Amino acid sequence: MRRKLVAGNWKMHGSRELTRTLVSGLAAEFGAAAPCDMAVCPPYPYLEEAARAAAGSPVAVGAQDVSDQDQGAYTGQVSAAMLAELGCRYAIVGHSERRTLNGESDELVAAKFRAAQGQGLVPILCVGESLEEREADETEAVVGRQLRAVLAAAGIGAFEQAVIAYEPIWAIGTGRTASPEQAQAVHAYIRGLLAAENAKIADFVKVLYGGSVKAANAADIFAMPDVDGGLVGGASLEVEGFAGICRAAG
Ligand code: PGA
Repeated sequence: MRRKLVAGNWKMHGSRELTRTLVSGLAAEFGAAAPCDMAVCPPYPYLEEAARAAAGSPVAVGAQDVSDQDQGAYTGQVSAAMLAELGCRYAIVGHSERRTLNGESDELVAAKFRAAQGQGLVPILCVGESLEEREADETEAVVGRQLRAVLAAAGIGAFEQAVIAYEPIWAIGTGRTASPEQAQAVHAYIRGLLAAENAKIADFVKVLYGGSVKAANAADIFAMPDVDGGLVGGASLEVEGFAGICRAAG
């Protein structure tokens, strides 16, 4: 039985104060008896504050991105070693907003995945199709391509220390979630693709769903056999909403 993970992706929202409020609010809500694994992924400037507020609680901290490079002349980038030093456990890689707005290729995402793991961070690898791709019946082709790029670069063994997040682009921030059945179908496809290489690892890896998850719809989606929690944007910016989603994962 895979323990579920609920991770909050704050995107470019928040403040120092909101960081303290959200993280200490979550820690206080559950104490040591968390119903699932929990993580918050604030913007870079708030990571240290988040790690401080989360210390000794079941809340883990993650970054929203990571450089594929170790160090050097890469203005504006942040390395995995820096994130690890700040107390991060996770790093999101390949979020669709970075793939589309920053032009990140499958190969770059794979390199970021490896860089994160190289410093002991657990990458949360995002995959997912656009509405046009879904309507053209290309969902599996797109998700398969995104996943195979990482498999080719890192190998199946790397997925023992990784999390996958299926985030259909058309469901992100739109209020339109995938139905539990739509999510399950893609999650099963992802697990099947990994199982073709190693059944044990495929059975072990967490596959989160992301895209307009809220406390009101989380339980139905999380009830699907291959859905192991959620990557939550908007609803992670408020303690009660996020806590409700965590409870649904229990
Ligand atoms: P959303 O975002 O929950 O606001 O749809 C999810 C994400 O982009 O990770």
